[in-house]
Amino acid sequence: MVTTMLLCSVLVLLAPTMLMALDSSQSSANGVPGSTSGTGNVASHFEPQVAILCDSSARGPEAYHPKYMSEQGEWASDLYSKAACFKDKMDILNYCKKVYPKRDITNIVESSHYLKIASWCRAGSSPGAQIRGKCKTARWVKPFRCLEGPFQSDALLVPENCMFDHIHNQSNCWSFSRWNSTAAVACQEKGLQLRSFAMLLPCGISLFSGVEFVCCPKHFKGDSFMKDS
Ligand SMILES: *[C@@H]1O[C@H](CO)[C@@H](O)[C@H](O)[C@H]1NC(C)=O
Ligand SMILES: *[C@@H]1O[C@H](CO)[C@@H](O)[C@H](O)[C@H]1NC(C)=O
Repeated sequence: MVTTMLLCSVLVLLAPTMLMALDSSQSSANGVPGSTSGTGNVASHFEPQVAILCDSSARGPEAYHPKYMSEQGEWASDLYSKAACFKDKMDILNYCKKVYPKRDITNIVESSHYLKIASWCRAGSSPGAQIRGKCKTARWVKPFRCLEGPFQSDALLVPENCMFDHIHNQSNCWSFSRWNSTAAVACQEKGLQLRSFAMLLPCGISLFSGVEFVCCPKHFKGDSFMKDS
């Protein structure tokens, strides 16, 4: 069961000019504490994230209050913000800034996987509703990660027999899903299949001009899937 895993990030592979384009965040990416205040005293798995539920029942669309990741690492219902399904990227970025006012939130990116989140509160829920167990809805959603400070690319796990690669092109300022399919095609062209990927080089709100990815042999089985940050 012992497999060799490498943790790869494109930061260490890009040419020096590209490193400068990515700005000065490398020191914190390499483990030297960054200067961002308020990040040193929380559990290392905490990451600012928000989740918005867009759901409809037989009676039509249902509005739910948004949720955010608390510093204790739990999904909290935000009963002080309007219950709504908001999809606009600017609205999601502004929402991140609102729930994490002390953090330097600069961008958002879709999470790389769906999560089942419980206890969604319907519009009109009072603060006591959650305590009284009235928020019962559980749904699979794809949260948004609220990115802090200068952009840092994620580290990806590269299992044995798999390969790490990246594509970047400043003229392609694309969404997460477009880079997902671009990476999938790149793996297919090598006769492999896309296992994990992460965005590079932000060029707008939730827009990026590159992707790093791991391709594995088809039907590859392994347990550890993706490291999130
Ligand atoms: C990437 O695209 C594939 C195929 O459309 C989809 O199944 C997968 O869920 C996408 N990955 C993410 C992380 O969104
Ligand atoms: C970048 O993308 C543009 C537009 O899709 C394409 O014309 C160009 O050849 C690409 N550059 C590189 C270096 O791949």
